[in-house]
Amino acid sequence: MSAVSFQSISKTYQTPKGAFQALNHVSLDIEEGEFFGLLGPNGAGKTTMISILAGLSRPTSGRVLVQGSDVQADYAAARRKLGIVPQELVFDPFFSVREALRFQSGYFGVKNNDAWIDELLHSLGLADKAGANMRQLSGGMKRRVLVAQALVHKPPIIVLDEPTAGVDVELRQTLWHFIAKLNREGHTVLLTTHYLEEAEALCSRVAMLKQGHIVKLSPMSELLKSASANVLQFKTDAALPPAVAQRARVTGRIVQIPAQDAGDVERLLAALREGAVVPEDVEIRRADLEDVFIHVMNEQGAAS
Ligand SMILES: Nc1ncnc2c1ncn2[C@@H]1O[C@H](COP(=O)(O)OP(=O)(O)OP(=O)(O)O)[C@@H](O)[C@H]1O
Ligand SMILES: [Mg+2]
Repeated sequence: MSAVSFQSISKTYQTPKGAFQALNHVSLDIEEGEFFGLLGPNGAGKTTMISILAGLSRPTSGRVLVQGSDVQADYAAARRKLGIVPQELVFDPFFSVREALRFQSGYFGVKNNDAWIDELLHSLGLADKAGANMRQLSGGMKRRVLVAQALVHKPPIIVLDEPTAGVDVELRQTLWHFIAKLNREGHTVLLTTHYLEEAEALCSRVAMLKQGHIVKLSPMSELLKSASANVLQFKTDAALPPAVAQRARVTGRIVQIPAQDAGDVERLLAALREGAVVPEDVEIRRADLEDVFIHVMNEQGAAS
């Protein structure tokens, strides 16, 4: 039995401008114990999938099972198995951090939970904020509380919708250390993030979503293998020759071009020389998940 099974999920939102289809027959099974990454550009439909999984939003068609429990027909059973860290910061401003966690425990009917609450506070660097009112916390601290709240009933499935947006480097490391530990202990993790180096480091399998369709579903190792092997990277202010520009990803002064092998790199450098471009800080590096992501998204754009 899958931890999570999205079965032909479609979602159409009614908007003042008419109907908008955010998800189009999305099917996806996440197995027990996986660390699964759901990636896609803004508006791809990631949060919509998670809202439907959480039972907060009703699919237009299709169904979602959580360890066999239907999130619509068997909401309470499905919800209890899920710990969801939402993308939006929502909280009750009148609670202290500890009260919020106790309240959440009560919601799930978990009694005498203080030992686990203390461990959560400690693991997420919130120990000295336990008595602080939620209003007094910074944005990053509120996000830590949301993570703690999601985990208070030790759910077998942990769902994180961009948990590290606006979070500093230190907490990101603390958070991933903690989530990876829970994953090793058997918890299934579903993660959405725009930080692709995090996804690359953590996820064993990835789905890429674009305009409500899954356009790629693959183990991480295969995805990285499928990437063109190398990337030529340099800095320049000059305009690139058209043949090179076509293949390049440009961020400010930084230019990155996928290259198969040494011969390909040589040809690129020759083309730059012919175009009177003098590259600075030249590096050749291995292709990473971001390179694959951009390739997949462009390929799909060309196809549709
Ligand atoms: N309540 C709503 N009413 C109408 N349209 C909506 C609603 N919620 C989401 N959408 C639209 O559905 C699409 C998918 O939104 P969603 O929030 O799922 O994207 P996302 O992949 O989570 O993006 P991001 O990376 O920005 O968080 C977007 O075009 C969005 O504008
Ligand atoms: Mg989102």
